Amino acid sequence: MQAQKPRGTADIFSPEVERWQHVEGVARNLCREYNYGEIRIPEFEHTELFLRIGEVTDIVQKEMYTFLDRGGRSLTLRPEGTVGVARSFIENKLYGGVLPVKFYYLGPMFRYERPQAGRGRQFHQFGVEVFGASGPWADAETILLAVDLFKRLGLTDLAVLLNSLGCPDCRPAYRQQVLAYYQDYRHQLCRACRERMDRNPLRLLDCKEETCRSLLADAPRATEALCPECDSHFETVQAFLAGAGANSRVEPRLVRGLDYYTRTVYEVVSKDLGAQNTVCGGGRYDGLVEALGGPPTPAVGFALGLERLLSILKTQGRTATAGRPLDVFVVATGESSRKQAPRLAQRLRHAGYATDVDFLDRSVKAQMKHAGRVGARTVLMLGDAELATGQVLVRHMASGRQDVLELGDLEPGVAAVLGRKDG
Ligand code: HAM
Repeated sequence: MQAQKPRGTADIFSPEVERWQHVEGVARNLCREYNYGEIRIPEFEHTELFLRIGEVTDIVQKEMYTFLDRGGRSLTLRPEGTVGVARSFIENKLYGGVLPVKFYYLGPMFRYERPQAGRGRQFHQFGVEVFGASGPWADAETILLAVDLFKRLGLTDLAVLLNSLGCPDCRPAYRQQVLAYYQDYRHQLCRACRERMDRNPLRLLDCKEETCRSLLADAPRATEALCPECDSHFETVQAFLAGAGANSRVEPRLVRGLDYYTRTVYEVVSKDLGAQNTVCGGGRYDGLVEALGGPPTPAVGFALGLERLLSILKTQGRTATAGRPLDVFVVATGESSRKQAPRLAQRLRHAGYATDVDFLDRSVKAQMKHAGRVGARTVLMLGDAELATGQVLVRHMASGRQDVLELGDLEPGVAAVLGRKDG
């Protein structure tokens, strides 16, 4: 048997996992404040669902984990959350209820990509999706929520890049302009881009190859090709953001890796991320619900990569979290106290103290050493003689100070010792 995880996956465990829980906790809290409810959808869907979002999308074409189940059905591990959430919105007829519907999700996504720093085959997203709101405030609110998350985590040096890709009325003309521009340079383009010219010319703007990138500076700007309605929508999004004090920058050639977007698209990038510098991406996708068989429903949302977010936190030295503090370690020093120790531990746990106890029958010295290693804030020392008189000894580890506590008054006694700064 091979005791090795698949490429592009990670084991996340304590103490690292406490950093995840901290970020997830801040995100959940923020969603409560913004009135977004959680949605949990399957981690796999019918392959057909993802195919409907675009045969020209790289993620769909080349990066899906698709398999046949034992019943011969083609299923796919979700490469992203938006499509599944939209499917759920339709299937549960949420369009018939109170709108807008505002959801958030946290969980793993799967893409068969070449693994590198900041790019995994299983990675985790925190995302939000809003259905049933066509106005620009909805776009701005999702961006502000993302910006607030970064702020609350203490992150700096992040840039919000904004663009508008227009609507089915004005986008075809822009697409044509982009195509015409690149036609002249066809021979200079990378092979993938030459293919993109025929299938999906807007993605030419997103190519990371040096020669293709050098052509970007003079490529047509999406913002100059917008119809009056899209233009006004985009202007208002920017005005809302500015009014809320959020910095953003229009990047008129920003396009996204998924092809369901209409109007606003945005990304949050960090210089602390290297090549994979996008931590958050999103935008409006007014045509998706209808394309999946639901009624026409405007929608907007984003997803951010938790691995990338945690990596920026590390680089910026924002790793401090409460950790997993252990309030009490119970050390037994005699025969009968060994029997008492687990009971006392239970008593303290039920009073709300994180408590651990030796169950390897170790010597007192070894138990004390262990208590130090696991970072116990106090040690409760149970000796047979003290127990007989209804007392225990408590040691405050940071100061080394020891006190005698009455067993009957154990909980308030422990509280007092834990509450003391100097022990
Ligand atoms: P996306 O840009 O494909 O958008 O992914 C969003 C974020 O997920 C990226 O900015 C990145 O931080 C993270 N991410 C993507 N792929 C990987 C990977 N292989 N390894 C590590 N992190 C990764 C979406 O997924 C859309 N569903 C966003 C959205 C929601 N649009 C509207 N609503």
